[in-house]
Amino acid sequence: MHVFTTAADLQSFVEASRRAGRRLGLVPTMGALHDGHLHLVQAAAADCDDVVASIFVNPTQFNNPDDLRLYPRLPEQDTALLAGAGCTTLFMPDVAEIYPQPTVLRFDFGPLERVMEGAHRPGHFNGVATVVSKLFHMARPHRAYFGQKDFQQVAIVRQLIADLSFDLELVVAPTVREADGLAMSSRNRRLSPEARAAAPLLHQVLTQAAGQVRQGVAPTEVQAQALATLAQEPQFTPEYFEVADAQTLQPLARYEAGRAVVLCVAAHLGGVRLIDNVVVE
Ligand code: PAF
Repeated sequence: MHVFTTAADLQSFVEASRRAGRRLGLVPTMGALHDGHLHLVQAAAADCDDVVASIFVNPTQFNNPDDLRLYPRLPEQDTALLAGAGCTTLFMPDVAEIYPQPTVLRFDFGPLERVMEGAHRPGHFNGVATVVSKLFHMARPHRAYFGQKDFQQVAIVRQLIADLSFDLELVVAPTVREADGLAMSSRNRRLSPEARAAAPLLHQVLTQAAGQVRQGVAPTEVQAQALATLAQEPQFTPEYFEVADAQTLQPLARYEAGRAVVLCVAAHLGGVRLIDNVVVE
C-alpha cells in the first residue's frame, strides 16, 4: 500500500493512475476505523482499480474543541486494517497540508443544513464541504464512498457534487451495526462499559418509531414518544429526534404518499455524542 502525506505526491500518483486508464475510488475518513469504514473500502476495491483512503481529523468540522481533542487517533492500527481491506493508497496529511492558510470561502447549503446536525453544530457542514472538496481535487476519484450513518452529510455531499459539478459518482453504503443494533462509529470507543450497555437503546427507539411511521402515527407523536423513551434512560441526554422528508430533510407535519421518511436522532451518552438514523420507504 502506498502511503502519502503530501497532496503533491498523491496528485502525481492519481494522475499516473488515471493516464493508465485505472478507475479510482476514494474513501474519506477521520481514522479510528471500524467495520463500517472497512465495508466502504471493500466496496471500493470491488468496483475500482485503485482505492485511495484518506485519514484526516478535520479541525474545521468540529464545533466542540473537546470533541476534536478526544477524537480517537490510531494511525498504525488503521494502516494495517486498510491494507487488509484492499486499500491501495493511504493519504494521511497533516493540518498544514490541507489548510496551508485559513479558508475564506464559506458554504451555505440553505434549508438542507438548517436542521439536525447543521442546526446543532454550527459550521460543521462548512468544514465537511471544505475538506471533502479539497479531497476530491487532490484524489480526483471516479467514485467516492460514504456511509449512510451520516445521513445529512450524504445529502450535503450530494448537493456539493451537483453544485460544483464534481465529475464523480457518489456511492452510499448502508450503516454497519454491532450485533445489538448500535451503529458503528469511531466515537463508540469512548463509551464507558455502562454507557456502552445503554447505547443500543438509540437503535431500539428508531426501530420502534419506524414501526409507528408505517402505521401512520402522526410525526409529532412519533417524535414525542421517541424523546420520552430516551429520556427514561438517565444516561442519555437527547439532542434531537426528527421525523423528516428523506430528500429535503425538512421536518414533516404529515406523511406524503410515495415520499420516503427518515428518522434521525442525536443524543449524548456519558459525554459522547452519538447519531443514528433509519429510512422508512
Ligand atoms: O464522515 C467523516 O468521517 C468525515 O465527515 C469526512 C467525510 C471524512 C470529512 O472529514
